[in-house]
Formats: sequence, C-alpha cells, structure tokens
Amino acid sequence: MPAVVIVGAQWGDEGKGKATDLLAEHIDYVVKFNGGNNAGHTVVIGNEKYALHLLPSGILTEGVVPVISNGVVIDLEVLFHEIDALNARGIDTSKLRVSANAHVITSYNVTLDKTAERFLGKRAIGTTGRGIGPTYADKINRVGVRIQDIFDESILRQKVEAALVNKNNLLTKVYNRAAIKTDAVVAELLSFADRLRPMVADTALELHQALEAGKTVLFEGGQATMLDVDHGTYPFVTSSNATAGGASTGSGVGPGEFKTIIGIVKAYTTRVGSGPFPTELFDENGEFLRSTGHEYGTTTGRPRRCGWYDAPIARYSARINGLTDFVLTKLDVLTGLKEIPVCVAYEVDGKRVNEVPVSQSDFHHATPIYENFPGWSEDISTCRTFEELPATAQSYILKLEELSGCRISAIGVGPARDAIIVRHDMLAS
Ligand code: GDP
Ligand code: IMO
Ligand code: MG
Repeated sequence: MPAVVIVGAQWGDEGKGKATDLLAEHIDYVVKFNGGNNAGHTVVIGNEKYALHLLPSGILTEGVVPVISNGVVIDLEVLFHEIDALNARGIDTSKLRVSANAHVITSYNVTLDKTAERFLGKRAIGTTGRGIGPTYADKINRVGVRIQDIFDESILRQKVEAALVNKNNLLTKVYNRAAIKTDAVVAELLSFADRLRPMVADTALELHQALEAGKTVLFEGGQATMLDVDHGTYPFVTSSNATAGGASTGSGVGPGEFKTIIGIVKAYTTRVGSGPFPTELFDENGEFLRSTGHEYGTTTGRPRRCGWYDAPIARYSARINGLTDFVLTKLDVLTGLKEIPVCVAYEVDGKRVNEVPVSQSDFHHATPIYENFPGWSEDISTCRTFEELPATAQSYILKLEELSGCRISAIGVGPARDAIIVRHDMLAS
C-alpha cells in the first residue's frame, strides 16, 4: 500500500489529525501537500494535546519522516516556532524535509490578507488572516517567493522588489497604509536561511525514491473538499486544492500511485468563516453540537457554525476525491439526542435536488430535506467494536454509509488516540 491520501470531506476540522495519527504507525513518510498555517489539526495522546498548523500530524509518531511539499505555503517564523514548541515537548523534528519549490508567506501577504478582508466588509470571506490567499495569488501570478530563493540573496531581492511595486501601490493608494520596504523583507527572510538550509530538499525526488523502495507514504490534506478552490463553495474557500488531486500536484507524485484515498467526515457538519451551509442550525441543537463537540477553531478560536450531517456533501466528496474509505468522527457527540436528522437531499425553488447543485446561487438557496433516525443515550466512548455500539448507533452508521457513497471503515468515539472503532483495514486493499 504505497501512497495513501487523507482529505477532509466537509468544510474542515473533521479530525484529519487524529486519522493521520491512527495510521502513522504503519507509515514511513507523512506529507503535507497543501495550505499553510491556516490549518489546525489536533491530536490527543494520553494527557497531552498537540495542535499542529504547518507540520503534518504524523510528525508525532517516532520514526516517521515528515515532509512539507511544493504545494504548501510556508510562514517561516511560524515553522520555526512550531518546531521549537514540539522540541520543547520532546518531539523529534530532525527528519523534516521542506520542498525547495514551496512558496513563502511573506509579511506583506499577511498584511494584505487582513487588510483586504477588512475592506470587503460584509462580503468578507472570514479567512484565517495568515496570508494564504495573497501568497497563492502571487504563485499563480508568477511573482511569488520560493524557499530556494532564500539561498540566493540577489534573486530574492529582485523578486521581493518586483512584487512590492504593485503591492505598495495597493497598500498606499487604495488601502491608505504605509509602504513596505524591500530591505526589511529581504533581511527578515535571510535571517531564516541558515536554520532552513539542512531541511531543504527535492522532496518530489525523495518521495519518488521512497515509493520505489516500497516505503509507505501518507499525504495529509489541510482544509477540505468544500473549501477546495476548484470544487468547494467558491469564493468562500481557501486558495489551494484540498482534494485528493492536490496530493499529486502538491507533491510531484504521479496520480497512479494513490490507491487508498480516505475522506474524514464528522457525524454532523461544521464550518468556520462565511459561505453557504444548508444544514446550519441556529437553535439549541446547534448550540448542543458546538458545546458538546467543543467546536471552536484550533487556529483562530472562532466558534464553528454547526449543523446536521449532509449526505449529498459526503457523496460529492466521495466522487470528487475518488474515496475508497470514510472515517466517521465524533459519533460520541450525538449521544443523548432522541432523534438525529440527516439531510438526504435539498429543495431548490420548490424542486427536490439529490446532489450538490453546480450553481452557487442554487446552493445558497438550498434547504435541506431531512430524514430522522433514532438516537441513543448510552455512553459510547469506551466501545471498541461495531457490535458494542447501541443498535440505534449501528443503524445510524449503516444509513450514513448507504447514503454517502463509500464504506465507513472507522468510527471516532472520542478525542483520545485509542477512541476509535476500526471496521475495515484501510491499508489492506
Ligand atoms: P482537523 O483540522 O481535521 O485535524 O480537525 P481539528 O483538530 O481542527 O478538529 C477536530 C477536533 O475533534 C479535535 O479537537 C479532535 O481532538 C477532536 N476529535 C477527533 N475525533 C474525535 C471523535 O471521534 N470524538 C470526539 N469527541 N472528538 C474528536
Ligand atoms: P483544517 O485543516 C476550517 C477557512 C477559513 C475561511 C476560508 C479561507 O484545520 O481543516 P484562508 O485563511 O484559508 O484563506 O481562509 O477557509 N479555513 C478553514 N476552516 N478548517 C481549516 O483547516 C481551514 N483553513 C481555512 O475559515 O472560511
Ligand atoms: Mg482543524
């Protein structure tokens, strides 16, 4: 089982960190292939809780080689801060490899992200303010700074200077902010060079060699399918490909290598930031999910919007990513509900629509059509087999499996590392 992909199947925070941690003991390499420090992946090991942003969660497993590949955007200050914080807790980060082709989040792009959001007012996307959008925009505009540029001062200076021509016009003439000086940006970036140098590699080549040697490589997606810049709820998305295809372009590993593609899906739905969300709840049920599920952002601390499970979204994710398995997380959060509604289709302009509408306006107006399933009141957090679950929890899972387009191979029943029921060996196929 050479290359395995983990992606979010909803709007993020499904528990990808925990799923990576679950598989990491069978893995040789773990690759972060998209996004940056907008991600927040939580892993709970014993009494210790780790929140990873830029480093892949697999770094917590001894012996695994962590890789930040070309599709990622890197804030170097955050990278070294995260490394230092893990080292202080006894985690070895010395094997980390960083792609020479990954793009760098410069301080002016953090400024521009925050300023642009403020100027959008009511139409703001609700970004994490980490400079993600402007950095990917620079990449596509061909004015980005890459990791390798930091080792060539003259090239670095030329690139920063060229990028700042437009940005300073924007900052001073449109946003009424102070201009940014090339020297300051270059000096800041150069200050990271010595520490960065030993980690920098041709990660596409190293991953290719690892796969040739029969090693197992896990690709850990940031964000999620509905936040993907092509397939998500555009423009209320992030600026990278968070879907399985992004694992290929974001790492330089050919698409034929990916045989196991795992979608992480919560037993309900959450979203942070703006944008359509048909099953969102504004009543006490939403508050129940938020407080019981501790639905507050790992990165920004914002309360997450909460709603019921949306089966058309799960089916959409299964299709777009070519999923082979789902990991269903946070089933324990639903304990205590008498009835659990599941969105099986939408109503758009008086008509039943079974799949996620391609028109964003239709999706904005879609109202969910629910089917109700009986809940359970027993504590399920200690269940470790499917059969130990209450009968109504078993039938809820089987119903979701039938509606969601792919088998449910593992079920999360609590935040702890071992709080999981494995139904199928995802790495065996
Ligand atoms: P990610 O961004 O997809 O890695 O997810 P986050 O870490 O942002 O959010 C998921 C949260 O749910 C974390 O706090 C996890 O510790 C927690 N979690 C993961 N799986 C389960 C589960 O099965 N049950 C419960 N109660 N919490 C879980
Ligand atoms: P993980 O990996 C949830 C959301 C932001 C915002 C939109 C764009 O932990 O699942 P950005 O800063 O990326 O330009 O913001 O995307 N967003 C996330 N929501 N989980 C995440 O990551 C997210 N990363 C970005 O809230 O709506
Ligand atoms: Mg998260």
